[in-house]
Amino acid sequence: MTHLLKDRSLKYFVETQNNNVLDKWEGYFSIYDCETEHLRNKPINLLEIGVQNGGSLEVWCKYFSKSKNIIGVDIDPSCSGISFNDERIKVIIGDSNSTSLKEKLQNVCPHFDVIIDDGSHKSYDVIKTFTELIQLMNSNGVYIIEDLHCSYWQNFQGGVEKPDSSINFFKKLVDVINIEHWRNEKDLNWLFRDVGLVNIKRETMEALSRINSISFYNSMCSVKMSDNKYQTIGKRFVKGNVATIVKNDFDGGEISDVDEQQDLNPFS
Ligand SMILES: C[S@@+](CC[C@H](N)C(=O)[O-])C[C@H]1O[C@@H](n2cnc3c(N)ncnc32)[C@H](O)[C@@H]1O
Repeated sequence: MTHLLKDRSLKYFVETQNNNVLDKWEGYFSIYDCETEHLRNKPINLLEIGVQNGGSLEVWCKYFSKSKNIIGVDIDPSCSGISFNDERIKVIIGDSNSTSLKEKLQNVCPHFDVIIDDGSHKSYDVIKTFTELIQLMNSNGVYIIEDLHCSYWQNFQGGVEKPDSSINFFKKLVDVINIEHWRNEKDLNWLFRDVGLVNIKRETMEALSRINSISFYNSMCSVKMSDNKYQTIGKRFVKGNVATIVKNDFDGGEISDVDEQQDLNPFS
């Protein structure tokens, strides 16, 4: 965990917020500090799904002090009447699920460095929103999903073992990062078959291939994008001159792994 100076931490900005109301859990603050540290002093674009009273958008302006655009999306039309204390903030009224939202967003800001989903928290919405909006993520950007505790609850379309709960969807992204090691003919449509994702769009496939890491916390998941397409494991390096225990077939340089296909593996 990152330990920032007290007056740089998100907790500080939340505790000193004195205009529009925000509503976030304390456990999230140090996670944001850690996951977005590399973006703090950059001219970023941030999008938060779920505006409600608008306080979090004001906090993001202060927290990311050099940000260019802080955009909030809410399905509730009354959010368009909120007065903000910073002109970088814009509110778009729309359903995070709708395909038209992406177009509306792109008219205001085409790409984002931080996307936060603090919207309906229903599994279907969270997954649909992610597969659409991840397409707008910049290299090295971070997509954060809040309140994943809802993914365990029935009235949010969740359950611990429900294959298409939002948290079970995000767990599968671990397999996406490791797709180069599957050694079978399967693809992402196969991987996500129980999540109800079929015929995944080319743009979504491309964006999924740019995921660099996934971090899970209590009720939160952070998906970080890479700076390149497809982060491969790279070459294997076996260096040194003395192999006392295992004598690999190497000449002190790079070696390739055994090419064992998994077609006969019933679990593959
Ligand atoms: C938990 S509140 C947001 C709190 C705010 N982010 C904060 O930190 O103070 C959730 C908001 O999401 C909005 N919402 C619910 N479903 C949505 C959807 N499908 N698309 C966009 N916004 C949605 C609700 O109207 C509500 O204002």
